[in-house]
Amino acid sequence: MSNKKVDTDNTGYFSVSESLDGFTDSSRRIATGATTFFRNPELLRQLTNTVLPSLASSGNRFHVWCAGCSTGMEVYSIAMVVLDWMDVNRCPLQCKILGSDISDEALGIARTGRYPSLKKLNQPNSILFNRYMLDDGNGSAVIGKELRAVTVFKQRDIALGSRSHKFELVVCDHVFQYFTETRQYEYLERLMAACQPHGFIYVSTPLNQVITEITNRYPVNKFAKHFYRLKG
Ligand SMILES: C[S@@+](CC[C@H](N)C(=O)[O-])C[C@H]1O[C@@H](n2cnc3c(N)ncnc32)[C@H](O)[C@@H]1O
Repeated sequence: MSNKKVDTDNTGYFSVSESLDGFTDSSRRIATGATTFFRNPELLRQLTNTVLPSLASSGNRFHVWCAGCSTGMEVYSIAMVVLDWMDVNRCPLQCKILGSDISDEALGIARTGRYPSLKKLNQPNSILFNRYMLDDGNGSAVIGKELRAVTVFKQRDIALGSRSHKFELVVCDHVFQYFTETRQYEYLERLMAACQPHGFIYVSTPLNQVITEITNRYPVNKFAKHFYRLKG
């Protein structure tokens, strides 16, 4: 397993701390569990600028699958952004966000929703964080009930795909880079199959040849880096 720590200068707004190195699942040997709140500003920007307005104009269901969600920070960050967007735009959606991972240990933290030793930095998402996360008085941030209501976590290997459920948005961030080209194609197939017609899919960071194949192999339009929309 990698000993890589979260680079808070580059990506982090709220540090995940070094505790990830303590995971002992065998699954952790193949991929680091490094994650942070609001790790991917461009994904979240496209979510509010493109995905949510588009889906809200054609329906009110918004089911999201975060595949390889680690300890849940990605899921809760997306949930905060969606809840805020619905509030500001007075546009209630039936929102449910599924986080899945192969690591039971990571999912245990995700389900608890308690993050010790979070170092708050001065950054644009502090307002959202303070609104939806609670301070337990002992240095931990804990998810509030609004976040709990729209999130669920399941242990699932991406290779197994989604049983029958289809999602308006599929997100798989910082997972592909740990796998071979063959495995990347396999995961891509599963993720695409889980996406609704006209749904959105965000996948980072496949190999270049896999990226090229995405638009050749699947009926998608690319509208931003790593972001695609199914044609139908
Ligand atoms: C680097 S973390 C990324 C977490 C989050 N997506 C983010 O971007 O912050 C990679 C996660 O993928 C999970 N993972 C690796 N292979 C997986 C697989 N085949 N199925 C489900 N999860 C997987 C790991 O357990 C780890 O938690």
